[in-house]
Amino acid sequence: MAVAMESSNRIAVVTGGGSGIGRASARKLAALGFDIAVLDIDPVRANTVAEEVLASGRRACGLIVDVAVEDSVRTTFDAVRSRLGPISVLVSSAGIADFTTMDRMTAATFDRMIAVHLRGTFLCCRESFTDMAQQRFGRIVNIASVAGINGGGGPGLSHYAAAKAGIIGFTKALSFEGGPLGITVNAIAPGLIDTPLTRGAGAPDSLYDAIVARLPLRRIGQPEDIAGAVAYLVSDDASWVTGQVLSPNGGGSV
Ligand SMILES: NC(=O)c1ccc[n+]([C@@H]2O[C@H](COP(=O)([O-])OP(=O)(O)OC[C@H]3O[C@@H](n4cnc5c(N)ncnc54)[C@H](O)[C@@H]3O)[C@@H](O)[C@H]2O)c1
Repeated sequence: MAVAMESSNRIAVVTGGGSGIGRASARKLAALGFDIAVLDIDPVRANTVAEEVLASGRRACGLIVDVAVEDSVRTTFDAVRSRLGPISVLVSSAGIADFTTMDRMTAATFDRMIAVHLRGTFLCCRESFTDMAQQRFGRIVNIASVAGINGGGGPGLSHYAAAKAGIIGFTKALSFEGGPLGITVNAIAPGLIDTPLTRGAGAPDSLYDAIVARLPLRRIGQPEDIAGAVAYLVSDDASWVTGQVLSPNGGGSV
């Protein structure tokens, strides 16, 4: 497997790469020698992180995408291929979050959550799969959530938990197709991570403080805690790992 890694292009696409877990993953993979396509719906964020990667000595490009929109994903992945080359690693981290209880949940709110997370993961995996199959090598890491396993632990996350549970099922199913092609497909289900998404979701700081107080490891996660798990899953050390859900969560869910 070490041979496969060395002979494959070390080109990684990170969706949602402009912030939080995606940004930390892009920086980590760049430090490990990958060239990085930073994809985000926010072009300023995407370009800023691409500049950070370039400054570290790797090739990079920042590109705008809405992962929920088929044409946008197709066009953007074509741009990645022409700018960097065929894709060997995908980290699917683009995401949104809000707390919406059932009495306020519109169909549009529910649909957008599913579209960004589940449809977006599907579209980006499909685009990457072709390149990876041709190379007989690929690493897909889909960012799910503990909410996809335990429902989120409180009210207002039914749409988010449904989307994340869908990503877990999708990841497991796709691993059966990827394996014979040399493609591993895994998910990471983070616990609470300190990112703009968490801080902007509308929950009071006191809720986060209460969660952290119950964690065996007694601290909120940092984006780098998840980037480390991403690095493991794309490494040769994980060449026999597929269809799995790795959940760095401070011990909050065991
Ligand atoms: N922060 C947490 O506690 C936590 C826990 C579990 C899972 N997650 C998941 O991790 C992933 C990353 O979250 P984060 O905490 O780093 O959030 P973040 O807000 O810091 O980063 C998410 C990025 O995704 C981008 N994005 C949003 N919608 C998009 C779209 N339609 N197309 C392309 N890009 C889009 C945003 O612009 C942003 O840059 C998400 O899937 C999130 O659900 C986060």
